[in-house]
Amino acid sequence: SICYLDGQYLPLEQARVSPMDRGFLFGDGGYEVIPVYSRRPFRLEEHIVRLGHTLAAIGLPDPHSAAEWAAIVREIVARNDWQDQSVYLQVTRGADDKRNHAFPAEVRPTVFLMSDALVTPSVAQLESGVAAVSAADFRWLRCDLKTIALLANCLLRQQAVAQGCAETILFRDGFLTEGAASNIFIVRDGVMLTPPKSHLMLPGITYDVVLELAQRHGLAHEVREILEDEVRAADEIWMTSSTKEVLAITTLDGRPVGSGRPGPVGRQMHAWYQDFKN
Ligand code: PDD
Repeated sequence: SICYLDGQYLPLEQARVSPMDRGFLFGDGGYEVIPVYSRRPFRLEEHIVRLGHTLAAIGLPDPHSAAEWAAIVREIVARNDWQDQSVYLQVTRGADDKRNHAFPAEVRPTVFLMSDALVTPSVAQLESGVAAVSAADFRWLRCDLKTIALLANCLLRQQAVAQGCAETILFRDGFLTEGAASNIFIVRDGVMLTPPKSHLMLPGITYDVVLELAQRHGLAHEVREILEDEVRAADEIWMTSSTKEVLAITTLDGRPVGSGRPGPVGRQMHAWYQDFKN
């Protein structure tokens, strides 16, 4: 595939970054994953705005204007073969000549984009849903930033994979935060519930779309703190992300969620989402 590195488009296997890059040494950078349907980036502007928030919050000067970012994303899409793609974009605080926690005096950000075929959930996964486990959310207190320092998320996701499951649902102090790489929605008595945006979760682009769709179609919903016990007693649980879209979680820690099958509200939301993204 063709990637972008610091102003150049080149085959991915030819791209080289210094081992002194702060992304490599410190996980010092921000990123986005942008879904592309029929060669059209979905919610591109929102992803670029969120990247801007991440970079501003970590004191990394944004190397590009929104228009420039959009142009680079479109070029990567054009240069790769797939109709549906998942574009990965990251910006790090660049390389220094010494390893030093403090920022370099002069920062030259490293900008890297790559693309892959977008793999959304399979028909089988949509029909049966997926299994999840739960874990205590031991991440830091800036989960609202989309930074490339994802070790905690990797460890938490691996807990699911080690048990043959697809996602780990995270609880902090008895409340739902999100998934290891997704936001979480539940349904109780026909009402869709999800936690409010805070420093404890990533403000998902898909999360926003789902809330917009609920509003547009008049689906009863509430954005509020959700107790762990409410999740365990939910009729439906879904995970949402740019690559998973809206995916039912039908078992949690080995116990069925509601009927143990994807529920009617989630099926409806999935259908609205499919309609909306095209
Ligand atoms: N992850 N929460 C976390 C911790 C995430 O990593 C993600 C996405 C989301 C959902 O955000 P969005 O709807 O904007 O994709 C929530 C991406 C896909 C990833 O790291 O691959």
